[in-house]
Amino acid sequence: MEIRSVRGMNDLFGEELQQWAHVENHVKKVFESFGYTEIRTPALEKIEVFSGTVGDETDIVEKQMYQVVTDSETYVLRPEGTASFMRAVLEHNLQSSGQPGRFFYYLPMFRHERPQKGRLRQFHQFGAELINDASPEADAELITVLDQIYQSLGITEYRVRINSVGCTECRSAYKEKLKAFFQPKLNQLCEQCQKRFERSAMRILDCKRETCKTLAQEAPLIPSCLCSSCKTHHERLKSCLTMAEVKFEEDPYIVRGLDYYTRTAFEFTSQLLGAQDALGGGGRYDGLSARFDEAPFPAVGFGLGMERLMIALQEKQKLPQSQFNPRFFFAPLGEKAFELLYPLSLKLKRKGIWCEISYDKTKGLKWLLKQANRVNADFSLMLGEEELNQGTVLLKNMKQGTQENLSLNSLESEIIRRSHRAP
Ligand code: HAM
Repeated sequence: MEIRSVRGMNDLFGEELQQWAHVENHVKKVFESFGYTEIRTPALEKIEVFSGTVGDETDIVEKQMYQVVTDSETYVLRPEGTASFMRAVLEHNLQSSGQPGRFFYYLPMFRHERPQKGRLRQFHQFGAELINDASPEADAELITVLDQIYQSLGITEYRVRINSVGCTECRSAYKEKLKAFFQPKLNQLCEQCQKRFERSAMRILDCKRETCKTLAQEAPLIPSCLCSSCKTHHERLKSCLTMAEVKFEEDPYIVRGLDYYTRTAFEFTSQLLGAQDALGGGGRYDGLSARFDEAPFPAVGFGLGMERLMIALQEKQKLPQSQFNPRFFFAPLGEKAFELLYPLSLKLKRKGIWCEISYDKTKGLKWLLKQANRVNADFSLMLGEEELNQGTVLLKNMKQGTQENLSLNSLESEIIRRSHRAP
């Protein structure tokens, strides 16, 4: 077939999808136990939700957004969740009580990036956002939730790196210092960083090119330029993380690829992933609502890539075993047996017990047993002429290979008794 899915956008089905669903449920439970409730926003947003809010010099806004252009509007497929979340919060006044509000989302994101392992054009992100709480304790909570998600799934091979990118005041002084440092070296920087120099000099620190990385080693770093309240905030964050028993390291080079962060910024990276090693990341974004021309209120959050989480689980051989098989397979031999088993199979399904039944009444026992094996049923139940005459059925435990005769009169209750799987 010539028509294929879009590059970097995958179909999900079968066992892989069941594993995803299992992990998704697990992550949702972690969110719920920390008091986060779900929010869903549309995939398509007006372009203004991201341009001017996420940062016009960021890769996302500059070159990664998928646009949908109609006669009167330009829409984009959501490249990230935080700006959409903020649009929804402001539209529905969810911040108005002034009380802390905890939200999580699980949504597909779209970025026109070069696909590679762990980097897709449609990927799935879990995100958590906490509004109306300016405290460093709130920042520590988000980092702790992200840490808990990985730990509880059995992933321990990652590093938690934290930094403070300062507030508008101390950051602008720092930016000037940074620009003064890079100015005489401008022509040694890569083309991208030369462009970044004027408006987002801090992102030069994040460049992956060797020449830029080497030059950045000598650059002044933000911790030395933080104002006293940003310093206090950061110190308190560190002591909260210590109390929460989250292992972290300080990395003054963490600046994040999005422009809305203030104070705390963090990243979780793992060697389980390969080149695209970011498991998740986030930070505080107290100034984002003002970019929507609304009154500022504090907020902090993170995003985690589901595809990358699944890679890490696979690397650690911690992917859940699929448990998607019927408990019973009914094998009627002939019409009379079918008429007896068919209504019973429906009755059981309606009670929540999965029992398959073969609709082909012309096949022999061998073929029917093969089908029971193919669908991986725990039990198969055979009813032929002989059993009908004796008022019994033959029940075979497909996993243990044992079999027994059950009375037709008590069949329903005998099946229900065997319907529960061992945990
Ligand atoms: P982000 O760092 O751009 O942050 O993305 C968060 C996570 O999404 C990454 O750490 C990575 O695991 C995953 N991810 C990003 N791009 C891709 C891709 N192309 N393919 C697969 N996975 C990817 C944000 O999006 C912020 N909105 C996070 C945030 C929430 N900050 C505050 N609140």
